[in-house]
Amino acid sequence: MLNKKVEEILNVQIEKEGYSSNLYLAMASWAEAKGYEGIAGWLYAQAEEEREHMLKIIAYVNERGGHALIPGFEKPPVDYKSVKPMFEEVLKHEQYVSASINEIVALCETEKDYATLNWIQWFVAEQIEEEASAGSILDKLNLLGEGRLYIFDRDIMKMRGE
Ligand SMILES: [Fe+2]
Ligand SMILES: [Fe+2]
Repeated sequence: MLNKKVEEILNVQIEKEGYSSNLYLAMASWAEAKGYEGIAGWLYAQAEEEREHMLKIIAYVNERGGHALIPGFEKPPVDYKSVKPMFEEVLKHEQYVSASINEIVALCETEKDYATLNWIQWFVAEQIEEEASAGSILDKLNLLGEGRLYIFDRDIMKMRGE
């Protein structure tokens, strides 16, 4: 059986991953409406990945004899000043998610839930990648400057999986 406190914190993480998915979906839709097809494509793909993270946690909680609870989600911001501040928000959000994954790790340790501690390592590694990927996007944006968004929009999909 899944430890109750661990089940609770995983249910909180389900909400965070689902919110992440909706947040990136809102950003994707904003970018698409503005005509940034590449950026929208990147964000739609990212929203899909976040949904998969949520599903992964749901499956784990239920498999271990817990009950994964599907929450309501807060409405994400739908308007963004421009591309760069939006990606700054992406990085900030990923850092926030990394911190919450670390909290799960810490709880698994104090609760001696070594099965979940082992399982959550996938998310630890994933967050390293997600922060790095948001960071390199911002590097590229800074290099190009906001005046060259056409090139950025054309090339951003190539940065997936780099
Ligand atoms: Fe995630
Ligand atoms: Fe993420």
